Amino acid sequence: MVEKQGPGGGSGTVELIGEHPILDFQRGEKVLFFFDGKEMEGYEGEPIAMALHANGVRVYRETEKEHRPRGFFCAIGKCSSCFMVVDGVPNVRTCITPLKPGMQVETQHGNGSVPDGKD
Ligand code: FES
Repeated sequence: MVEKQGPGGGSGTVELIGEHPILDFQRGEKVLFFFDGKEMEGYEGEPIAMALHANGVRVYRETEKEHRPRGFFCAIGKCSSCFMVVDGVPNVRTCITPLKPGMQVETQHGNGSVPDGKD
């Protein structure tokens, strides 16, 4: 059995496996979060990148010099492909960071910068 996820159900959403013969999918509560200011739905505790993928988002950051798009690569926290700005903090590995209600997730441009607190 499959389950559709994604606000609006429009293009870009994917079908998720709902039941599996040997794996147990325990999902948290459905929550709202924000990607580049756009409201999206996900499940609390799932990796941020998984929630974005389910909402049709494939580009998480762009490289500093060439501005090339990057998304999932290893999906186990061992590279830097999924770096994003989460709640104002750059370089967060979204493939291993659990989603929380109301999170502000932003595309990371370049290497990211930490606010100096003077703004
Ligand atoms: S995709 Fe490699 S660390 Fe997230």
